[in-house]
Amino acid sequence: MAVISIDGTPYEAADGERLIDAIHRAGIALPQVCYLPQLGPVQTCDTCIVEVDGEMVRACGSVVAAGMNVATTTSRARVARGEAFDRILRNHDLYCTVCDNNNGNCTVHNTTKLLGIDHQKYPFEKKPFEVDSSNPFYRYDPNQCILCGRCVAACQDLQVNETLSIRWEDPHPRVLWDGGAAIGESSCVSCGHCVSVCPCNALMEKTMLGHAGFLTGFSQPVLDNMIDLVKGLEAETGYKAILQVSEAEAAMRTTRVRRTKTVCTYCGVGCSFEVWTKDRHILKVEPGAGPANGVSTCIKGKFAWDFVNHQDRLTRPLIREGGRFREASWDEALDLIGRRFREIQSANGPDALAFIASSKCTNEEAFLMQKLARAVVGTNNIDNCSRYCQAPATTGLFRTVGYGGDSGSISDIEQADLVVIVGSNTAESHPVLATRVKRAHKLRGQKLIVSDLRENEMARRADLHLRARPGTDIAWLCAVARYILDEGLAHQEFLDRWVNGLEEYRKSLEPFTLEFASETCNLPVETLKRAAHMIASAERVCMLWAMGVTQHSNGSDTSTAISNLLLITGNYMRPGTGAYPLRGHNNVQGASDHGAMPNFLSGYQSVDDPEVRARFEAGWGVRLPSGKGLDNHEMVDAIHQGKLRSMYLCGEEMSIVDSNANYVSEAFGKLEFFVVQDIFFSHTCQFADVVLPAGPSLEKEGTFTSTERRVQRLYQVLEPMPGSRPDWMIIQDVANRLGAGWKYGHPSEVMDEVAALTPMFAGVNYKRLEGFQSLQWPVAADGTDQPLLYTKRFAFPDGKARLFPLAWREPQEARDAEFDLHLNNGRLLEHFHEGNLTDRSPGIHAKTPDTFVEVSPELARARGIESGSLVQLTSRHGRVRVRALVTDRVHDGELYMPMNSTTSPVNLLTGSHTDPATHTPAYKETAVRMDVVAAAGESPLPRGNFRFGHPTPQDGVEVGRKWQQPGYRFPGGLVQIQTGRKE
Ligand code: SF4
Ligand code: SF4
Ligand code: SF4
Ligand code: FES
Repeated sequence: MAVISIDGTPYEAADGERLIDAIHRAGIALPQVCYLPQLGPVQTCDTCIVEVDGEMVRACGSVVAAGMNVATTTSRARVARGEAFDRILRNHDLYCTVCDNNNGNCTVHNTTKLLGIDHQKYPFEKKPFEVDSSNPFYRYDPNQCILCGRCVAACQDLQVNETLSIRWEDPHPRVLWDGGAAIGESSCVSCGHCVSVCPCNALMEKTMLGHAGFLTGFSQPVLDNMIDLVKGLEAETGYKAILQVSEAEAAMRTTRVRRTKTVCTYCGVGCSFEVWTKDRHILKVEPGAGPANGVSTCIKGKFAWDFVNHQDRLTRPLIREGGRFREASWDEALDLIGRRFREIQSANGPDALAFIASSKCTNEEAFLMQKLARAVVGTNNIDNCSRYCQAPATTGLFRTVGYGGDSGSISDIEQADLVVIVGSNTAESHPVLATRVKRAHKLRGQKLIVSDLRENEMARRADLHLRARPGTDIAWLCAVARYILDEGLAHQEFLDRWVNGLEEYRKSLEPFTLEFASETCNLPVETLKRAAHMIASAERVCMLWAMGVTQHSNGSDTSTAISNLLLITGNYMRPGTGAYPLRGHNNVQGASDHGAMPNFLSGYQSVDDPEVRARFEAGWGVRLPSGKGLDNHEMVDAIHQGKLRSMYLCGEEMSIVDSNANYVSEAFGKLEFFVVQDIFFSHTCQFADVVLPAGPSLEKEGTFTSTERRVQRLYQVLEPMPGSRPDWMIIQDVANRLGAGWKYGHPSEVMDEVAALTPMFAGVNYKRLEGFQSLQWPVAADGTDQPLLYTKRFAFPDGKARLFPLAWREPQEARDAEFDLHLNNGRLLEHFHEGNLTDRSPGIHAKTPDTFVEVSPELARARGIESGSLVQLTSRHGRVRVRALVTDRVHDGELYMPMNSTTSPVNLLTGSHTDPATHTPAYKETAVRMDVVAAAGESPLPRGNFRFGHPTPQDGVEVGRKWQQPGYRFPGGLVQIQTGRKE
């Protein structure tokens, strides 16, 4: 800490912290137009100038040093700040009353007021550019742009998409996309960072325009007249009166615009933000205080909410009758479900029924679903879709370190010196988390190794890209571990103190020579050595992995290999280290945490443990079944075998997202009684006997648990769509039709029950999760949580981790003469999973209307294929027709198909073979043949897709170039002119 003087008063501040932060902490209202803590000093606006030891400096660009003497109120500093802001106003037409950004948080408006500006010193000058509305989600108005550069800093150095720049040398500088393209034709990924950080109305969400204000919904000519009117008044009344009117209008807006905190419904990063609504209209998503994301979002969290009000929403229960669905009342549907479940249970026993909880639903809903299965029906046949992706990662961690969750937080990944990503298209599947890696890599020199078949964005940015043969990551991971041990590069002290099983593990590594791995993975020995040295020599290593690892027949073993490697290099138990299996769905972590698994009650308490069962039995007043139930893969087999007769499936598009979709669909067709609960009539609904209309996250209360084990509250943004009900209410209704007698009045009561029965969540309650507060499990009864999972011990009885011996197994589904190509698959940035939600966003649909298959240029040449060719892919399990996209992201005989389609789903091609430890389907081990159906056609991706853009990487906004312009003079160096201004 250092002591500094601010305006004559001593204050404590951290040595090296930004001076502007220390000044604000002292309660001094210093203007700051371009500064945002998360962006760091942009230094374009000059409105924060203060005197430090007699010298005029920008407070945002200065750091605290002990003994410094800061003066904020000298006339020199005031004049400089006033001059700086006058220059800003030259670029901005102040018409607040009729502006959609007049919501009390406009920086330009608020700074005008703070500085007491009454008249503009430099008249507003229109720039010779049109408004750009070519992006479906936001528009840029160059005439309102104050050139603060926040958007550029956010795009270049926070999102690191590197689309935006300002050419300071231009006669009329403006923000440029890809150096001058239309936004809709650029590399912009519509993450919304720039829009969220823009301090005025230059960048705005289109959903705000004409909707936010009382006087903003007029046609442009009328608006222009009103703006002229407002501006005309300025000469007479000054800004003060105009600002007062606009503030009154802003206050009126609060009577009809609601701002409600929620957590993103898409991926597992756990971004949280406020949703602004006017009645059911979603005005915008406003990030800022989220513990995982701050001001960051991706296209889905920021813009993909059209589905909530979509006309396709289910609003009445449906009952199948005579091969058709008819609408029914809730009572009729629930009565039918109660009766049929009881009949099937009585005739065949409770294990003839099975339950699938949704990883898109809340923790409370997952808990209720497993309670319904176990306590009401009496079966452990309950699972969730973590089986399809995350179960192998959890198994790998259970084997080695004890808990099945990320061992640290996203901030640890950011701090690491080396990040190793294995089988994850992080920039598209976990976009906001990826921004932290991209930022650390770009600005701090963090090193990056990526192992992936495709040259995805992270691979393109990596210091080392390993393109291992499909399904062979375990070989290089084990070989690198063996090399590190053999060369004495392991962290012996850590191994001695914290790790069991070294000898047996070392023995299991004997076959994994570098030469073996080189041959198996098709990677040069030198490359493997380089990876080994990078991992062994880095001070702090984080390893990230996802479905590229887990959706293989060796998914659990490869996950184990990752954790083993971290253990031998001592990369656990410290900030900036650890294992990060990236969870796919928003609440796939939470669904498993809360007992929606066939072998675990909430908090991974085994159904086989009599003590655990006794606690739940006492709490619930019932006898509970012991012995593992069926997982969702086994359920499908059991239906085919006639053992499983009925299923209640909540919010999962299982007939498409499970592998071997034909086999799954056939099974569903055989069910005696099938209940599907969803917000749309999904593909799976067509097999149902009863369809129940449920609610999306914006229409309910509850909690989600993100990939970093972070439990966060979501508040109800909108009333349930008439006719639909939140899922927790429906599950309760079904349970009560079966005689459960549940009386939950609010999800918080469910969470209290979870906490009472689950040591891992003992201290979780809604009070502790208010607003943007969060808890990272395990949470002790006093509310202490663990952002870093292992600090004093690993989660085994002796507190030590365990190295787990491994063996090599060939991937299944080899290519042969008939099925000669390997088909990989995964997510796209702009669509979530099969696309049921995101494809209902017109903007996303326009940018990415369909799925496709990526074909390498060399394969395309050999087969006479071009982008747009229609091809038929045939596997041993099914076939689809899809258009080709020729791209060098894939190479040789590798194909890649995004999973965003319900009409040509990739899972018509995948098989039923699984990882033996978890039954996770080996989606990524699929061999196909490709036949050309039509050689020419329209590209499946329109030219406006960001993948065709041309980013312009640079270091932030490059403000130095602004300062070098002949017309620029630092306001702090100007001759002082007393203006008598208020500030
Ligand atoms: S990628 Fe697009 S939306 Fe995101 S910050 Fe850059 S310009 Fe803005
Ligand atoms: S568009 Fe960019 S440069 Fe212009 S005012 Fe907004 S954030 Fe600043
Ligand atoms: S989809 Fe994921 S990264 Fe994007 S806003 Fe939602 S939680 Fe964040
Ligand atoms: S806030 Fe310091 S230069 Fe803009």
